Amino acid sequence: MVAIGSDHAAFGFKNIIARYLRQTGREVFDAGAFDSVTPADYPDFAAAACSRVAEGGCEKAILVCGTGIGMSIAANKIGGIRCAHCSDTYSAKMARLHNDANVLAVGERVLGEGLLLEIVEAFLSTPFSGEERHKRRVDKITALERGDSL
Ligand code: RB5
Repeated sequence: MVAIGSDHAAFGFKNIIARYLRQTGREVFDAGAFDSVTPADYPDFAAAACSRVAEGGCEKAILVCGTGIGMSIAANKIGGIRCAHCSDTYSAKMARLHNDANVLAVGERVLGEGLLLEIVEAFLSTPFSGEERHKRRVDKITALERGDSL
């Protein structure tokens, strides 16, 4: 299951992502927002989608706001979340291969629909490499999150 969340500014992209996920056989948990008119605070929706990932109910989450920046900053404050803000497919792929990112953030005011869906697919279909050096670095990120010194 993939969690999706947006604010009002990215409601349109959230719907495009939801449709793509369902068309490609993925289950979707939609954390909102649910319209493009009511001003919505992106941290609320980052929290709603990412808590599903942190608790294990969803494997990954995709967050959208105007730029993707606010969503990524908020998501990365949540324990267990490694959110990658991507505007290209190479970064989306490397975020999985090297960083084991479990959340993707994108910006509706930044991307076109075609590139958006290529980024989404690259993120969802690329596995973590599992290589020792990358595991070690991801473990260090987790240690930082716990407040440990490196
Ligand atoms: C909303 O206007 C906008 O600030 C928000 O969608 C996002 O881009 C913040 O990072």
